[in-house]
Amino acid sequence: MANPYDEAHARSLRDPEGFWGDVAEDVRWFKRWDRVLDSSNKPFYRWFRGGVLNTCFNALDRHVEEGRADQPALIYDSPVTGFTVKTFTYRELRDAVAIFAGALAGLGIGKGDRVIIYMPMVPEAAIAMLACARIGAIHSVVFGGFAANELAVRIDDSKPKAIVAASCGVEVNRVIDYLPLINNAIGLAKHKVNHCVILQRPQSPGTLTPGRDVAWADAIANAKPAECVPLAATDPLYILYTSGTTGEPKGVVRDTGGHVVALKWTMKAVYNMDPGDVYWAASDIGWVVGHSYIVYAPLFHGCTTILYEGKPVGTPDAGAFWRVISQHGVNAMFTAPTAFRAIKREDPEGTFIRKYDLSRFRTLFLAGERTDPDTLLWAQRQLEKPVIDHWWQTETGWSIAANCTGIHTLPVKPGSPTKAVPGWDVQVLDDKCRPVKPGDIGALCCKLPLPPGTLPTLWNADERFKKTYLNDFPGFYKTADAGFLDADGYVYVMTRTDDVINVAGHRLSTGAMEEVLASHPDVAECAVIGVSDQLKGQLPLGLLVLKAGVKRPLGEITVEAVRLVRDRIGPVAAFRTAVVVQRLPKTRSGKILRGTMQKIADCEPFKAPATIDDPAILDEIANSLEGVGYAGARKN
Ligand code: COA
Ligand code: AMP
Repeated sequence: MANPYDEAHARSLRDPEGFWGDVAEDVRWFKRWDRVLDSSNKPFYRWFRGGVLNTCFNALDRHVEEGRADQPALIYDSPVTGFTVKTFTYRELRDAVAIFAGALAGLGIGKGDRVIIYMPMVPEAAIAMLACARIGAIHSVVFGGFAANELAVRIDDSKPKAIVAASCGVEVNRVIDYLPLINNAIGLAKHKVNHCVILQRPQSPGTLTPGRDVAWADAIANAKPAECVPLAATDPLYILYTSGTTGEPKGVVRDTGGHVVALKWTMKAVYNMDPGDVYWAASDIGWVVGHSYIVYAPLFHGCTTILYEGKPVGTPDAGAFWRVISQHGVNAMFTAPTAFRAIKREDPEGTFIRKYDLSRFRTLFLAGERTDPDTLLWAQRQLEKPVIDHWWQTETGWSIAANCTGIHTLPVKPGSPTKAVPGWDVQVLDDKCRPVKPGDIGALCCKLPLPPGTLPTLWNADERFKKTYLNDFPGFYKTADAGFLDADGYVYVMTRTDDVINVAGHRLSTGAMEEVLASHPDVAECAVIGVSDQLKGQLPLGLLVLKAGVKRPLGEITVEAVRLVRDRIGPVAAFRTAVVVQRLPKTRSGKILRGTMQKIADCEPFKAPATIDDPAILDEIANSLEGVGYAGARKN
């Protein structure tokens, strides 16, 4: 007999308009939609056409009106600044957001204008996002671990009227001044930014540029609170840049109506949260997890969200997560498997776990990379709570596959994020766009239309949107993940099919790193591969072929190469190893055999492709990789 999950999933595919129309009743609209799904301009589908609403109203004002004014909305917990804890009730957060929205409006920012937010994990980051939403400005948050050059690329693509930033970020072992990075980025960008609002942090206040910069405190001092602006459901809420095949990041657009509808629904359906519950996503607002599950979804649902400025280990120890869970009564937590691998490495017996009261904690959710069965089983054993892997992407904004614990919990199969969430028709296709048999690996694709809250397009790049996601498998969205479905319909996500690697749950482009390395004056050719790493899942490794006649010490060149990637992309790339090789293995048509080199580095068995130009190069590569500590498997 069909269980409630099967029923919900089947209905969502059979009758998407009925399914999402019902879900949308839970949202506060200023004007109801004319059409749940507008398919008149395929492949650009639009949800809730004609509907008018405001994201910030649904996150804050409605809860103040509906009796949650004095409930904590957001708890800021910051071990890196001396264990600061600050709680905002829904009323306090609404007021802080309204004032900052007024400050932005005072700078001439209004509906449709872009605002870049470059901030560490401080409450003002969430306040700035919600303030943009309140006045219809489109925010684009840039992760603090990216370098000035990456920020400049995003400035030129999104053309913001203003940047909202903090004077510094606080990492475990150092304070990072943001203003030099911002000044550098603004200098590199072609687009002129007129205003910067800078939150001066006591850890390292910065020197403001007169005429351009205003301190956050001054900006709000004379501001009048702004009201929520009515917006079309199809108006953009934010742009979030993510890595693709090249160094040019893709601006994923999120619209207004579908986002509120879908995200609010996931809080119950996927995470089994009720209004008033405490929810914690230990990620960063610079990533999609932070957008969806630190800021928006928990607030849409009337939960308390935790904004944590710290790490899983080292702030101060491997008990950091358990301290936060017990101190704030967290009911469900969401983080990346890499965080658990870091904890497991320092506290394999779970000694710290037993020091804290976790009685209110119900479920651990993991995503961002595949949860390896070892980590899943370890976490399950230590916590004695369900551990749920779920699969999603920046593009989708919420999970494609999950165990929908608020609808009907299915048995967990380690290694699988369970089944397609209602709204998602996940199929595994071969390169001729034909479905493959259960158990066979192929391209994981989702039949169009995608559900609400997913990307309607890329920022100012409709053609790129089609080329990247829709053209290869007509009628489907290409996730660029490969995997399989088992006979029970469980999804298994195995690997990316493009040049994206996943480093500590952070999505990075090897193509972007190659572009940086290729700019080194001594480098003729290069390749970057993602090699396995026990903690971070993958780490980038660069192979460099030098220009003829270069006589400098190789060590100098590799050190410069490492520094170049850190300076241009940022520390988050974790690019620490480059090795000089004589030649790169290629097919006869000139395609670099990155996959084969990755297998060599990971000591996995491999066969030299039939199309290889010169098989002897593989032995040279194996020798070079052995020289930098990689196992160097030989072909079988
Ligand atoms: N601003 C500036 N620098 C940053 C930064 C930020 N917001 N975030 C990270 N960095 C820097 C780090 O300081 C580090 O610099 P280093 O090379 O000088 O040491 C570098 O970027 C790499 O950072 P990270 O990948 O976080 O590695 P780590 O060794 O500091 O920590 C983990 C490893 C596993 C503890 C950490 O990655 C983690 O907590 N991951 C949680 C998962 C997560 O948040 N995933 C996001 C998607 S859910
Ligand atoms: P991001 O856009 O940064 O969220 O990264 C998305 C990519 O991370 C996906 O395309 C997958 O490759 C990977 N990913 C995220 N979650 C999972 C998961 N639960 N299992 C396997 N891979 C995942």
